[in-house]
Amino acid sequence: MSQKRENWGSRLGFIMAAAGSAVGLGNIWRFPYMTGENGGGAFIIIYLAFALIIGLSIMLAEFAVGRRSGLGAVGAYKSYSDRWSFAGALGVLSGFFIMGFYPVVGGWALAYVFKSFGGLLAAPEAMGDVFGGFITNPVQPLIWMLIFLAMNIVIVAKGISGGIEKAGKILMPTLFALFIFLAIKSISLPGAGAGLEFLFKPDWSVVTGQTFLAALGQAFFSLSLGMGAMMTYGSYLNKQENLQSNALIVTLMDTGVALLAGIAIFPALFAFGMEPAAGPGLVFVVVPSIFAEMGGAGVFFSAIFFIALVVAALTSSVSLLEVVVAYLIDQKNMVRKTAVYGTSAIMVVLGILSSLSLGIMSGVTVFGVGAFDFFDILTDKIFLAIGGLLLAIFVGWFLKKEDLKDELTNGGTIKFGLFEAWYNLVKYVIPVAIAIIAVAGITSIAQKGLMIFGLLVIVVLAIFSKKL
Ligand code: PHE
Repeated sequence: MSQKRENWGSRLGFIMAAAGSAVGLGNIWRFPYMTGENGGGAFIIIYLAFALIIGLSIMLAEFAVGRRSGLGAVGAYKSYSDRWSFAGALGVLSGFFIMGFYPVVGGWALAYVFKSFGGLLAAPEAMGDVFGGFITNPVQPLIWMLIFLAMNIVIVAKGISGGIEKAGKILMPTLFALFIFLAIKSISLPGAGAGLEFLFKPDWSVVTGQTFLAALGQAFFSLSLGMGAMMTYGSYLNKQENLQSNALIVTLMDTGVALLAGIAIFPALFAFGMEPAAGPGLVFVVVPSIFAEMGGAGVFFSAIFFIALVVAALTSSVSLLEVVVAYLIDQKNMVRKTAVYGTSAIMVVLGILSSLSLGIMSGVTVFGVGAFDFFDILTDKIFLAIGGLLLAIFVGWFLKKEDLKDELTNGGTIKFGLFEAWYNLVKYVIPVAIAIIAVAGITSIAQKGLMIFGLLVIVVLAIFSKKL
């Protein structure tokens, strides 16, 4: 009996950590505006298919590789062959780049906790201008970003503390409950039907190669895949855990929160007559507008919503930072604190560039985009997908099938009826699918120079693989 309880306890801890990594700004901030920019329902269907077929399979592969090797991103590949280190290093680089913009948005969420109390909701018609004015300000968002990053530093420097896990255990369900509440509120606004139609009536005429690449990138980003985060978390798992059910639960939770965010936002958006393609400001404008409808209590709910958003972001960014830190500790023998401080110092610089690129530095562009978009597009549209592609090739063509079966069935003690299906997906279908989507996406994307640059970076990493 006590044996059983212990197992269950550690299982919950792992699911919380993995789901904490997955559920973040990707679901709540990014998913709604990507849906808006990519035409609604059709994007959602493609996204769900990718998340549930490709994403779930890749997550399982990452867990298996991580647990089998007991090492983080680079180490896991390296334990097979030095030649493969670059695939892990690509993940580490993705960690840096995602952390180049993620804390900026985390900082916005933090600021909105305080803005909720500071009269934000009193002027719903000015919500868009307030957001625009805030993120283009040269000083304020930087301070909030630094505070958000400092929270990461404290947590990761100590190792993952009980504090954040506890906060997550309370605030993640709170976020979930708030979204259900918001969704109901949103659906009941007059004129909300147009939003539901936008979400659930696919318009296939707006779908291009770009849409598929965007949906694939979003699936990887939201599920924390293709950069070694789930591999690193898997490496801490004990051998009794059921990888299959864990991967399924995390994937379902993640897609569930994304859908809920969509249902909370779009009906309200149409009811208020706003633009679906409003971009990165969507959550920050629509959600406070819904709360503003509620009078005094709205202020309180709005603050809780943004606190929960900060926590969701934090449990994700911690895993991003951890991928880089684990690499420096495992492969470069660095002390944890040094690794955390050094890594964060670089992230501060990247974050400042990102934040300023939305305001006073908007004229400074590389390959036609500012720093924020540079980090975002490069990781989301290319690095994560290629990271997933490399992992699928590695698992399908280089690792032994019996070893994989052994890992996924805990040495034959549990069943995995779909093993053959999973194996063939990873070996044949996923690599081909990602390659086709990448080619179709890259040929139809506006930022071709940036894409070619990204591919070159991967080639350079591959050449220097043995040194990583
Ligand atoms: N999945 C996180 C989110 O949705 C972001 C993330 C990406 C975290 C990659 C880790 C690795 O916000």
